[in-house]
Amino acid sequence: MNRRPMIAGNWKMYKTAPEAKAYIQELAPMVAQAKADVLLAVPFTALHAASASAHGTDILIGAQNMHDADEGAFTGEVSAHMLKDAGAKCVILGHSERRQLFQESNTFINRKLKRALQAHLLPILCIGESQQERDEGKTGQVLCKQLEECLAGLASEQIGDIVVAYEPIWAIGTGRTATPEIAQKTHAQCRDFIAGNWGKSTAARMRILYGGSVKPETIADQMAQPDIDGALVGGASLDPKSFAKIVTFDIIGRS
Ligand code: PGA
Repeated sequence: MNRRPMIAGNWKMYKTAPEAKAYIQELAPMVAQAKADVLLAVPFTALHAASASAHGTDILIGAQNMHDADEGAFTGEVSAHMLKDAGAKCVILGHSERRQLFQESNTFINRKLKRALQAHLLPILCIGESQQERDEGKTGQVLCKQLEECLAGLASEQIGDIVVAYEPIWAIGTGRTATPEIAQKTHAQCRDFIAGNWGKSTAARMRILYGGSVKPETIADQMAQPDIDGALVGGASLDPKSFAKIVTFDIIGRS
């Protein structure tokens, strides 16, 4: 099956609204008619300005987190419909920084996923193992548990539309990107697990992105792998020129 690639930038806690605007104005012409969905997950405070700047371009704007409740006494939190209202089309859920620094559990992420789908926000579900778990040979087990618990109670049709991002924790922000072979093997394991639980056609439809120290120099080899459908890019997405090189990897590959 032909899955449309997705290249998503995760800005984390970087960039103000005016900086987002200037970035998008520079990026848009460089990624026009890209052969991939291009997404920027920006801080809450830049969502409105970013979606206004991206209007009429091929760039989708998303958020990096949300709460599962629709509204209520949750000081400091933001709901799915608030994200929609600010112009978000997608939302990253379960990033390892959320899991590690803010103690987010699979059950909480599962509730957020359901709410995001209800609100017609495209969820990008992050999963990944630590260095210790990999060294102990537990990678498959850890990822399958994350998938099982985060996707619990969802129908196959819904699951096929979710984007999964495999982000080994040891590769995030470390410059130690997983080799294309390691990433491919792990993506194939995840796809097999989805096929076993929710059917082959769901698994064939689902896009699985790789994340963890993705750079313009590494993207072409990763994208050559059959089960790698795109990338979730942190550090290298902060500069529009470097992010554009990642989005247009096929052109780099051919030159
Ligand atoms: P990195 O971050 O590309 O800087 O490793 C990826 C991520 O955390 O999504």
